[in-house]
Amino acid sequence: MSARILLVLVSCALSVITGLVIARGGAGGGKTVRQRPVIGLSMDTLKEERWQVDRDLFTEKIKAAGADVLVQSANSNDAIQLQNVESLITQKVDALVIIPHDGAAMAKAVKLAHQAGIPVLSYDRLITDCDLDLYLTFDNVKVGELQAKFLAERIPAAGKLRLIRIYGAKTDNNAKLFKQGQDNVLQPLIAAGKVEVIFEDWAEDWKPESAKKITNAAITKNGPNFDAILASNDGTAGGAIQALMEEGLAGKIIVTGQDADLAACQRIAQGTQSMTVYKPIQSIATKAAELALKLAQRKPLVAKDAIPNGQVEVPTVLLDIVSVTKENLRETVVKDGFRKEADVFQ
Ligand code: BGC
Repeated sequence: MSARILLVLVSCALSVITGLVIARGGAGGGKTVRQRPVIGLSMDTLKEERWQVDRDLFTEKIKAAGADVLVQSANSNDAIQLQNVESLITQKVDALVIIPHDGAAMAKAVKLAHQAGIPVLSYDRLITDCDLDLYLTFDNVKVGELQAKFLAERIPAAGKLRLIRIYGAKTDNNAKLFKQGQDNVLQPLIAAGKVEVIFEDWAEDWKPESAKKITNAAITKNGPNFDAILASNDGTAGGAIQALMEEGLAGKIIVTGQDADLAACQRIAQGTQSMTVYKPIQSIATKAAELALKLAQRKPLVAKDAIPNGQVEVPTVLLDIVSVTKENLRETVVKDGFRKEADVFQ
């Protein structure tokens, strides 16, 4: 923390932690601030549709602000992601934005960046066990709570809800937070006998194929005798629904998701998926561009929250989210311009 001044002020009146981050190198000190800063964006993957939108919007915002972006994607491989970061450091980026494949593995990337005096913003997913400068994300625990609340509201009046749970990638800290939010809602219902988990597993690297296999295994073990699949994102929901289709069960089983992927919005309109959680990518990409530029220009910035990452309390900016069903598809993703009505309702 020597090269950076980090103040965490606790505001008792507001019960809010306000972090003021003055980027690595101090407020302009120790580093010449470039006229046209260059931001490095290191991405885990472009597999899910949302990440392509994140990349495009982030790039657009950075360019509109008169700066440049270098983007690298690691195809869910830690060694490649580390090489990508090393290459961005060699290219002398002024700030790094990292979407880690494995939050723990990328601690090394943060260390290397800091040795080169480059501040790091962790985007959407937390990098753990390091002296991270800033974290920007959605309220991930709330994502899990919204998914589980949707199910809680659909427990049969007489009886219980029999549930298959599909978690995300074990390497992704977010997957644990989604589960934590789901547990907050489900544990009391499980204890009260209103919900029974008949099968659960983690989908490797968030792969739809892995979610399909989990669903197949659950059906092989229990037969078609279940009511809902708590899939943690739209990609895994898609894999699960594929398995349901093969069994003639699609549309009969409640399926959750997250991301408001176009394919998921279409499934919701058609009735094979029941809900998704809309996380406005426009908000996170725009905010990330703004924060990354401030880091690059060594300007002070304020983060209202703080999240522990195993080593430090990371100054954090949290963004809000919305639950989307067939009833409010138009009022949410369409109204927001995230999806076109004609695309969703084909
Ligand atoms: C993101 C989700 C995404 C998942 C798979 C999570 O960290 O928060 O939006 O669906 O990764 O890429």
